[in-house]
Amino acid sequence: MLMGMVLLLVGMVALLSVSVVGGTTSSSSSSRLSHHGNGNDAAASFLVNAFSFTTIIRHNASIGRKIYFHHAQHQLLNNHRRIVQQSSSRDDAPSLSSPSILLFSSSSSHSVIETASSSVDEINNIDSHNTNSISTPHPLILPEHIRTIKRGGVAILPNWLPSHLISSMKTDAQTLFESGHFQPDGLTNTAIKSQNFSVKADRQTFRGGGGGSGEEKSSSGWYNASIGNITARLEFANRMDQLRQELSLGLDRPTLFKEEHEEMNTRQRHEITYNWYEPGAKLGRHLDEHHEEMKGPKGWMLPTRRSVTWLVYLNDHWNEDEGGALRCFPRSEAQMDLNGDAAQVGAQDGNLQVGWVNGGADPVFLDCFRPSGMAALYQLVRVSAEEGKESGFERRILSVEDFDVPSMQPIEFAPFLLPEVRDTFTQISTSRLDPRFAGSSSSSPLSSDSIDFDCSDESTILDVLPTAGTLVLFDSVSLPHLVREVTGKRQRIAATGWFHEDSQFVLEI
Ligand SMILES: *[C@@H]1O[C@H](CO)[C@@H](O)[C@H](O)[C@H]1NC(C)=O
Ligand SMILES: *[C@@H]1O[C@H](CO)[C@@H](O)[C@H](O)[C@H]1NC(C)=O
Ligand SMILES: *[C@@H]1O[C@H](CO)[C@@H](O)[C@H](O)[C@H]1NC(C)=O
Ligand SMILES: *[C@@H]1O[C@H](CO)[C@@H](O)[C@H](O)[C@H]1NC(C)=O
Repeated sequence: MLMGMVLLLVGMVALLSVSVVGGTTSSSSSSRLSHHGNGNDAAASFLVNAFSFTTIIRHNASIGRKIYFHHAQHQLLNNHRRIVQQSSSRDDAPSLSSPSILLFSSSSSHSVIETASSSVDEINNIDSHNTNSISTPHPLILPEHIRTIKRGGVAILPNWLPSHLISSMKTDAQTLFESGHFQPDGLTNTAIKSQNFSVKADRQTFRGGGGGSGEEKSSSGWYNASIGNITARLEFANRMDQLRQELSLGLDRPTLFKEEHEEMNTRQRHEITYNWYEPGAKLGRHLDEHHEEMKGPKGWMLPTRRSVTWLVYLNDHWNEDEGGALRCFPRSEAQMDLNGDAAQVGAQDGNLQVGWVNGGADPVFLDCFRPSGMAALYQLVRVSAEEGKESGFERRILSVEDFDVPSMQPIEFAPFLLPEVRDTFTQISTSRLDPRFAGSSSSSPLSSDSIDFDCSDESTILDVLPTAGTLVLFDSVSLPHLVREVTGKRQRIAATGWFHEDSQFVLEI
């Protein structure tokens, strides 16, 4: 089916994932692994730095591959079913048979990969590229903002967008709106719509691409030169690219920004939109991204996921009594301080966060690639230095035993947790807290009456006025938010988007 074996190598902080599609294995070639220094057939060793970039390597399909990782756990997915093989020695390293997908995560910051290869050049790319060499002359974001995002807070930067861009983008959005380029989001689900929730009461969006892909997509939507003010939109896109680069470094999320991406690829990894709220419009509480396993059959098939949400407002002199505030539900400062900077919110080792324990102090992550082939919930705990061991973080498994994540929404994780942590667990996405997602496939459709559009009784509420020039940034997985009803007489206009990072693993069919 495929011309060659394609290895997609994704190096991240303590995460490497590899998918292998197609190819055949022959016993003679797999034995090459043990023969070092033998010309073309030599096994090659590579130091993989925690900051290595994604690399695509094409292998000759007729040559078998065996890959062995020191200090690493890896798991083999064969014919799209999870078959797990862990190898701690070269001999029991899995052969890659066709079609197979190999996924592994390194448990230390450095791993040595050995592979039998016909050409060393093919896999030289695995070697590390240190992103620390990227520097920007005038930072668009400060370390304190990075820290806020890491801790699960909301970074707010007033007067961030230069005033000439505020005015040309606002005019651009108005022009595009008037010529019919905005569409209602349907964020409010169909049940609500059928109950007289008019289009005007919904958020309306101008988004990149009309569903196209590849080249078509990279010159459509936001980048479509034949509509509105493309000069303004490109200037803004470039500014956002610099911001993305700074976030990638600051948050240690290497795949947020990859130098070698072609323009086309880059544009597909960054959603940029304008959005438009008429008076009376509002948006219910929701999260911008969810764990793949919670998204049903399609969850594992997307190459990227939303990582950081950004909003830039374009409304001059917006007043509080005009409504339309962005209402966020971050943890309290006290909750953030409880565990210091133990774990960055959102994702750990590629596993997305699904909740909190200990009164919101510790993020809980869902690992779907356990040796059992099932899933487990865990938190990170700090371990102090002991003899022979450096201080650092360790996983503490919180589930009673490995489990299969239920396929039907709403999914509740509490029943799988150890009794002693069950009571302190709060799930991020529940049918109450995230009705649009978690309630979407439930048998009793939501009615607009049953949705609390303000959630005023939450313990920590952060309202942000949509004032021209303000930039807002937060983690896309862990921060619930809503937009309060626009109560004034004018429209609320903003640019909104999502920086993507690579998915942990992509199921290719
Ligand atoms: C793949 O490798 C085989 C065996 O070494 C060789 O005969 C063949 O020409 C190679 N194919 C390509 C496309 O390089
Ligand atoms: C539907 O919406 C219209 C306009 O907002 C309103 O006049 C009407 O009373 C609504 N009907 C119902 C059944 O709520
Ligand atoms: C750009 O917008 C115009 C007007 O809507 C449309 O006809 C054209 O197909 C768009 N171009 C692309 C590449 O989407
Ligand atoms: C388009 O945007 C650019 C950049 O902000 C600005 O200089 C220019 O005047 C705008 N053009 C129009 C027609 O508004």
